[in-house]
Amino acid sequence: MSAKTIQMDDQLLEYLRQNAVREPKVLQELREETQRLPNAGMQISSEQGQLMAMLVKLVNARKIIEVGTFTGYSSTVMALAMPPEGQLIACDVSEEYTQMARKFWQKAGVEQKVQLILGNAKESLKQLLEAGEQEAFDLAFIDADKTAYADYYECCLQLLRPSGLVLVDNVLWGGQVADSSNHDVDTEALRTFNAALSSDQRIDLCMVPIGDGLTVARKR
Ligand SMILES: C[S@@+](CC[C@H](N)C(=O)[O-])C[C@H]1O[C@@H](n2cnc3c(N)ncnc32)[C@H](O)[C@@H]1O
Repeated sequence: MSAKTIQMDDQLLEYLRQNAVREPKVLQELREETQRLPNAGMQISSEQGQLMAMLVKLVNARKIIEVGTFTGYSSTVMALAMPPEGQLIACDVSEEYTQMARKFWQKAGVEQKVQLILGNAKESLKQLLEAGEQEAFDLAFIDADKTAYADYYECCLQLLRPSGLVLVDNVLWGGQVADSSNHDVDTEALRTFNAALSSDQRIDLCMVPIGDGLTVARKR
């Protein structure tokens, strides 16, 4: 019936969630606790989490790198989707936010799968490369400071094995990327980043209008 992507209003989103989102209780609790924080909007949505869990399973991911962990929703949803021997390296600069993440990794029973690296993610990724982790990862999720996305992406591509996935959050940035009158620094960074990926022949590319926009790129 349509060559266009459907517009999602609150009523339709509620329908989608009621009919197709199977959010485990521990993730519901994490969402509720995060809602009390002033920056709760940084957390990914339940339907996006479920899509990411599906992608983790589809590529049979056993080693994941995450850039931007916050209170732990995306890391927990991906860790739950991995087999017991799976390993997820979570990078974040905030001790405060990740305290809640640690608590929920324990509650979800995935703490043995997750290793937190605190510090500037540019440095953390560089150190992984220096340690010889090229092509060691199956999936990367980028969801931190937008002006550094291009650097994170380049490092993650090196860390990924061929056919591995890079997932990148917030690529539609509330629609602002398409508003040419908006020259906010994060908007400009995302616009430049999206344009670079659109012609990047090292990847197969898909931009999914879920949450705030999720790029799914497969390393060729
Ligand atoms: C949008 S939130 C991540 C949300 C998370 N993926 C989730 O599902 O709840 C962004 C996170 O990136 C972290 N961050 C910002 N700049 C960073 C940097 N330079 N290095 C590492 N982490 C950074 C912030 O502390 C914050 O926790």
